[in-house]
Amino acid sequence: MKKTIVTLMLIFLFSHTAIAQNENDPYLNSELSVNERVNDLLSRMTLREKVGQMNQRAGKKYFENVNDTVSHQMLNMLSDLKEGIVGSFLILSEIDESNKLQKIAENSRLKIPFLNAIDAIHGHGWAYGATIFPTSISQASAFNPAAVEKINAATAKEMRATGHHWAFFPYMSVTRDPRFGRVGENYGEDPLLVTRLSVAAIKGLQGDDYGAPDKVIACAKVFLGDGQSINGLNLAPMDISMRTLKEIFLPPAEGCVKAGVRTVMAAHNEINGVPAHADPWLLTELLRDEWGFEGYVISDWQDIERLNTGHRIVDNYKDGVEIAVSAGIDVHMFGDHFVDELVELVEEGKIPESRIDRAVRAILTDKFKMGLFENRYVDKEAAKKILANPEHVQLALETARESIVLLKNENNVLPLSKSLNKILVTGPLANDNALVGDWVHTQPDENIITILEGIEDHVGSELDVEYYNPGDIYDIDEKTISEAVKKSENVDAIVLVVGGNDNRSDKDWTLNPRRKNRTGGENIARADIVLAGMQDDLAKALYKTGKPVIVILINGRPLAVEWISENIPGIIEAWQPGMQGGNAVAEVLFGDYNPSGKLPMTFPRSVGHIPVFYNHRPSTFLRHYTDSKPGFLYEFGFGLSYTTFEYSNLSFTDKVTSGDDVEVKVTITNTGSYSGDEIVLVYLNDEISSVTTPVKKLVAFQRVSLKPDEAKTVTLSIPSIQLALYNREMKQVIEPGDFQVMVGGLIDKFEVVE
Ligand code: GLC
Repeated sequence: MKKTIVTLMLIFLFSHTAIAQNENDPYLNSELSVNERVNDLLSRMTLREKVGQMNQRAGKKYFENVNDTVSHQMLNMLSDLKEGIVGSFLILSEIDESNKLQKIAENSRLKIPFLNAIDAIHGHGWAYGATIFPTSISQASAFNPAAVEKINAATAKEMRATGHHWAFFPYMSVTRDPRFGRVGENYGEDPLLVTRLSVAAIKGLQGDDYGAPDKVIACAKVFLGDGQSINGLNLAPMDISMRTLKEIFLPPAEGCVKAGVRTVMAAHNEINGVPAHADPWLLTELLRDEWGFEGYVISDWQDIERLNTGHRIVDNYKDGVEIAVSAGIDVHMFGDHFVDELVELVEEGKIPESRIDRAVRAILTDKFKMGLFENRYVDKEAAKKILANPEHVQLALETARESIVLLKNENNVLPLSKSLNKILVTGPLANDNALVGDWVHTQPDENIITILEGIEDHVGSELDVEYYNPGDIYDIDEKTISEAVKKSENVDAIVLVVGGNDNRSDKDWTLNPRRKNRTGGENIARADIVLAGMQDDLAKALYKTGKPVIVILINGRPLAVEWISENIPGIIEAWQPGMQGGNAVAEVLFGDYNPSGKLPMTFPRSVGHIPVFYNHRPSTFLRHYTDSKPGFLYEFGFGLSYTTFEYSNLSFTDKVTSGDDVEVKVTITNTGSYSGDEIVLVYLNDEISSVTTPVKKLVAFQRVSLKPDEAKTVTLSIPSIQLALYNREMKQVIEPGDFQVMVGGLIDKFEVVE
């Protein structure tokens, strides 16, 4: 009897408590295959340890800096890590902290390293000293997938150098509301452009094998649809037809999955009444069953909690965990509640352990694939050689150049001549880090070239550059405006830098990096999209001086700059050109780089016009507002050059068999005196269709470089799927009939025959 009791006690002991591992355990043998190691490790894990892999915590430093209201969520973080129930971290921005926490993980029973995740949106922005590239909306203006791939490959290298393995990027939301704070993080309003650039970002981040030492796991977000909430606010409902979902918002997500993105982040918002975090159709039937996704889905920040506190579809958190994990959420982003609740749900039989195993298997696979058991620490000195290395900084300059859009150049007031005697540079953003956009840690001052610094470096030895700071965006007042006018008295031209500020990092990161006066960025939506504060008044006052005024816009959203667009002779949309932005803008300003960018998002004349997008239905503007000029301020695809391009010889087959791609040829000639790049945009219009279709939609694009008088004939292919529509039964079909092709002002048509 006694023997039996002892035996039973031993069995109980071993099955539920820590058994020290030894180096010979198969899962610790890097000679074995990933699958063998996963199987062995999984077999050794308790339920609690398995669920722990689905548990993501935030770094301590982050909260020390921001005194965030949620820092109570930091409770138990270290004890959880010691227990081996933290599968990943986010926002560990410092190497020391990552290494320290990985050490604690290594001392846990199974020694499982954690995945270190971070928002690397346009460079590894949370890392001090990283390369800060132009923001996504800026990159989109270049219509250059190859450049986006390079940017993200550089970002992945810098991430791995600092011990990060998982980028919460690409942000593949089609964005159609300029009030939204996160326009700057996205690639604009067109599904094809968003898809191509998001896929390029994934290729840059993951490469062909994200297990490589300079590659990371990418994350397609948000799934789905925060780019057109009902009111432009983050987290607000998306109330949209299935037709618009399928035509506009789903294609980039599907493109990312088909491109092999390893993870997906669920959206904060509901879609038509169902919160994305609790939607089995979205997270399982569509994502996995239909599209074949095999990675894992992470919640967004506190969004499982929000099923109770925000969406009110459950009356307690544990029910939220049940509905979210059942719908398809595999990782809980951040917070000290998740493991207990999910273990209970499995023990209560509400969630099968097989569901846990699926998530854990995918997560462990990545840890073995990336060699984290063998290489979990990084070296600070080595990292310094990778961060903002000369090659990456040069790429930041090149992509900043291509991202700049010339909106107006009346009487060729631009480029400015270097033989001017004196210019005044002024405006709240002339000497400000706003040009790096959101999701950027405070960076070394010398790393960021402001507009003023770029101009001074570029022409300071040839002409006088006078600078006047009229105060931060909301601090401009009558006094500083009249002072700016005074400063302009004996100058030949005025460069006015205005716009918006999404940059959340104060000069000193140890301060609360929630910078005051932000006008954009995450959770900073605006109810109006005119220039904030008295920036317009400043522009009008300087215009009245009669001096040539050039406006440079630094902004992360389309702005209703109607007065400026009608009165100021030279307007440059520089968006958020990143750490090399000042140099790129100066080169454009003085003609050493010919601007080539085109708008990836339409500018409405006022907030009252929203939503506006170029690919609208035919009946959208059969009438106009009585109190506003008709049409857009600037349309998607608009952008000027210092040279002129002439399109000719548009040709393609005039009869297309349904299901065939359409090959389009067109000749572009540089008829001006500057070398330059032209972005060829091919639009399609289904002339008569059984359901309404867009007046035009982008179906192909390509950059072309041309010297003066040089001509090139380019061939672009329109994939047959671009001819398809969702008919009244929501079946995707290609209908016979005429289709117009529009390229560079030329129009012609072909007929689709059965
Ligand atoms: C935020 C954002 C998401 C980001 C995450 C982690 O809530 O919605 O895009 O990746 O938190 O920082």
